[in-house]
Amino acid sequence: MKRLRIGVLASGGGSNLQSIIDKSLDGTINAEVVLVVSNNSKAKALDRAQTHAIDAVHISSITEGSDEAADNRITQEMLERKVDLVVLAGYMKKVGPKLIKAYYNKIINIHPALLPKFGGKDMYGMRVHEAVVASAEKESGPTVHIVDDKYDHGRILAQMKVPVYPDDTPAILQRRVLEKEHEILPLTIQKLSEEWEN
Ligand code: GAR
Repeated sequence: MKRLRIGVLASGGGSNLQSIIDKSLDGTINAEVVLVVSNNSKAKALDRAQTHAIDAVHISSITEGSDEAADNRITQEMLERKVDLVVLAGYMKKVGPKLIKAYYNKIINIHPALLPKFGGKDMYGMRVHEAVVASAEKESGPTVHIVDDKYDHGRILAQMKVPVYPDDTPAILQRRVLEKEHEILPLTIQKLSEEWEN
């Protein structure tokens, strides 16, 4: 059975990237990460990729000169490596139209809340958990969805719920949600790999 070739876009720590790498190495998922792209040259995600001898590239509107040029370059790097699935794992930029067109329905994102709640342009990272705690929600949890041209908008593929306790801080909630992210993202990738095989 063909292994799904994954290209990851990440901006920060890359713990979700690590969960995909680990589960591809231990055979839990029939996939391999063949490229990691970050808009942030200092992203730990790039170091994690290099540790595993995965191609790691820094691409941003600054390195390329414009958003459009960065979109073109990211698309080209993905196509060159015959990437089947693009995974946004803590990518804090909007993906460009060229990548969306080249990988229509083949780009997924993990978001740290139960979409459609707590999504949209300025909802990312710790801000999401701050908003969930401030609105006294009883539950939260990660969402994996297809990426389209609107923020946090495409078809939802999977969600997992965790409780939110009255004395939670955003940081405590973030850890609880992140633990589930590391389960749900590889699980969803494996599900897609099985669906696409048939
Ligand atoms: C994760 O919580 C992910 O859901 C979130 O950023 C974090 C990245 O962690 N993504 C977004 O907020 C995107 N809207 P990681 O770098 O350790 O994987």
